[in-house]
Amino acid sequence: MNKDAKNSQLPLEGSSSESSWKKRILQKLDLLEQRIGNSPVVPIVHPKIHLLAKIETGNLMGSVKDRAAYRIIRDAIENDLIHEDSEIIEASSGNFAVSCSAISAMLQLKFIAVIDPYINRSYEKLIEFFSHKVIKVDQKDKNQGYLLTKLEKVEQICRGNAKVFWLNQYGNPSNYEAHYYGTAAEICRQVKTLDFVFVAVATGGTIAGISCRLKETFPNVKIIAVDAEGSVIFGGPPKPRFIPGMGSGMVPPLVSQAKIDEFIRVKESDTVRACHELFFEHGLFLGGSTGTVYHGIKRYFEDKTFATPPTVLFLCPDRGHGYIDNVYDHEWLSWFSSKTNGPSPTS
Ligand SMILES: Cc1ncc(COP(=O)(O)O)c(C=O)c1O
Repeated sequence: MNKDAKNSQLPLEGSSSESSWKKRILQKLDLLEQRIGNSPVVPIVHPKIHLLAKIETGNLMGSVKDRAAYRIIRDAIENDLIHEDSEIIEASSGNFAVSCSAISAMLQLKFIAVIDPYINRSYEKLIEFFSHKVIKVDQKDKNQGYLLTKLEKVEQICRGNAKVFWLNQYGNPSNYEAHYYGTAAEICRQVKTLDFVFVAVATGGTIAGISCRLKETFPNVKIIAVDAEGSVIFGGPPKPRFIPGMGSGMVPPLVSQAKIDEFIRVKESDTVRACHELFFEHGLFLGGSTGTVYHGIKRYFEDKTFATPPTVLFLCPDRGHGYIDNVYDHEWLSWFSSKTNGPSPTS
């Protein structure tokens, strides 16, 4: 779709002055706020622990990243960093790009998405629909991924162009605040006790905000970070990863703000098995990072015994629809099991 034509289909009425623009945009943001957050907490049967899942699939675009995108864009508008004629840019091929492009389109702001070839079909189509411009990088970085190449491209576009505002999910404190004031504050209202919380990490925004807020209300809660094997967030050599959504090819600065008690790493073949188990045993059709965390929880408590079952909560960042090219695709599963030399993930 021609982007200018698309924008002209949704005219905003009223004065063009900056202050009246800001007032109208903030009203729209107030409306959007009602579509994000207040996610449910549901119990999942487990033999040893009280297991609770906080499910983020009901957010505006179906993932936890709506929270960060909303907070980052709103804070930038409130602080006069984004104006009516600004262009907004981000390096993301995942949920964050979907959230940012959709929110920007609703606010009639121009969003530039810098994506990579690993993007899945449905996300690429959604991002194309909502964005002003989509740039796909094709050179791998030194960590065998595309993150550093995407960030270089963002830098290059921002350099010398004051109109372009970089959302910077990896370093923007509003990412952390979305979870400190949003996700974690909700959890504090939703549970009476809390012994363990397991969180998947990519930018670190979720775990930083959640851990700091939850430890204020539940000082003894243990925060367990879950990473994918091959991601470098908690050290170790980079390895190719095939399931999108979590892990990172660099150490994100926000992670240093998180109050993490332990971290665990999960193999992608275990992620796949856990996603399938969540659907076939528990009726939950969820994304890769949820499976990763669920597997991590099962492994963590395998050899532990408790006089009283602890209360364990985990975040389910997105739904399964974004994984129809891998976790929920027979052809990909055959390829993946031959590549990893392991048992078939469907077995
Ligand atoms: C599906 C999914 N799970 C987990 C995460 C991790 O969240 P964070 O970036 O806050 O560390 C992300 C972030 O992109 C995600 O898209």
